[in-house]
Amino acid sequence: MKSPLTGSDAVHDVIGIGFGPSNLALSIAVEEHNARLGAGPGLRALFLERQPRFGWHRGMLIDDATMQVSFLKDLVTLRNPTSDYSFLCFLRERGRLIDFLNQKTLFPLRMEFHEYFAWAAERVAHLVAYDSEVVSVDPVRDDDGTVSRFDVTSRDTARPGATVTRRARNISVAMGLEPHVPPGLELTEHVWHNSELIPRATGLADSGVPVRRAVVLGAGQSAAEAVDYLHRTFPEAEVVSVFAKYGYTPADDSPFANRIFDPEAVDVYFSAPAEVKQSLLDYHRSTNYSVVDMELIESLYATAYQEKVAGRERLRFLNVSRVRAVDPRAGGGVDVAVEFLPTAERQILSADMLVLATGYRPRDVTSLLGAAGKLCLRDDGDAIRVGRDHRVETVPEVTAGIYLQGGTEHTHGLTSTLLSTVAVRAEEIHHSVLAGLAGLATA
Ligand code: FDA
Repeated sequence: MKSPLTGSDAVHDVIGIGFGPSNLALSIAVEEHNARLGAGPGLRALFLERQPRFGWHRGMLIDDATMQVSFLKDLVTLRNPTSDYSFLCFLRERGRLIDFLNQKTLFPLRMEFHEYFAWAAERVAHLVAYDSEVVSVDPVRDDDGTVSRFDVTSRDTARPGATVTRRARNISVAMGLEPHVPPGLELTEHVWHNSELIPRATGLADSGVPVRRAVVLGAGQSAAEAVDYLHRTFPEAEVVSVFAKYGYTPADDSPFANRIFDPEAVDVYFSAPAEVKQSLLDYHRSTNYSVVDMELIESLYATAYQEKVAGRERLRFLNVSRVRAVDPRAGGGVDVAVEFLPTAERQILSADMLVLATGYRPRDVTSLLGAAGKLCLRDDGDAIRVGRDHRVETVPEVTAGIYLQGGTEHTHGLTSTLLSTVAVRAEEIHHSVLAGLAGLATA
């Protein structure tokens, strides 16, 4: 049952759904805007996050993994290079600025960027409600039928059965991606998605149960990282990498290709016809999808070769292969049936774990939006129509705003699910929200 609203003064200008880097960047834009106004009323914003505290892909915080985006594409710098929410200000506060510079890299450790995100999130903690999983968004109709607000209902993940409903003039949906499990496979005690890699592997290592073999399915960055991590974590185990390709494909991070992540590239992509959009995605897929950093590819190859020379091969690559079946094994573990595609020959690998590094998919925004989703316009391919300002196009009677961050690759291109433009996108949404509110005030 929905909780009643806390009162008419509880209308928020913006409610954010999800508090990952996208809505964190937006919250900082709002905070800086309100700070500029001083004692003025400012924007009333609240961000709802289902986790109990800030966390960014915690399951993949591998000790030596680095960011795949420059630290200058942090939460603020491309929007406001003088912001004190920048990665450099974080480093200065931590007393590591000069030490970081001496490394001569643009790409910090993933763990360090997580620490930076958490530091920024802590500074805007007054704008966030954690343990709040949004379960529905309902349009609120005025007497004349206009939908000028939404009721956003969240369940309290720390108190079963408790829900809160809040009212907002705009919502910013940034729920991220969810782990993809290929059809025919299911997650079990011994079959994990790589998003759970660190807690599961640490648990196993701490349990003292000997690990003899780990199988990793996939050929992208997460797969290669999982192979490398498991090989280091279980020094007695064989680690088998299974994928359909012949070999890992290197990520294209060359300067001209990298421009596909520029804010201007979003303009070009947005205004292009559908077939040009598709060709841009196809041409530049190798900047992001199913690709691996060259350094990691070379390091894995070197390790495999060293083992070959030494006569003890713990690292194995089953290429041009697919996992055909996974069966629980009596006494624990799984039997993984792997088929070599050219000959259809099968082998059974008895393993202690199968890690599915099989990617992520956008979360289903439509089912969350429910009745509000029915007010959204769709394109010929049934995808939600989204304006350049990230605002969903709706039927005319809706004056409340729905903004999407992520899940907009069909309109805004490859950066939709990435970090490259979070700062700039936050500014675009912020300005659009302000313009909408100004329009309401003068109407
Ligand atoms: P993100 O997924 O980070 O956050 C969404 C939040 O919404 C989560 O906190 C979730 O709990 C919450 N949520 C979901 N449903 C909810 C609900 N119903 N109610 C309330 N809260 C809800 N990109 C890049 O550009 N450079 C990089 O180096 C990397 N590195 C990288 C490493 C790994 C291991 C992964 C898996 C991904 C990356 N990425 C990346 C891509 C990655 O998607 C991107 O960095 C950000 O996580 C996108 O931020 P968002 O805030 O949009 O989603």
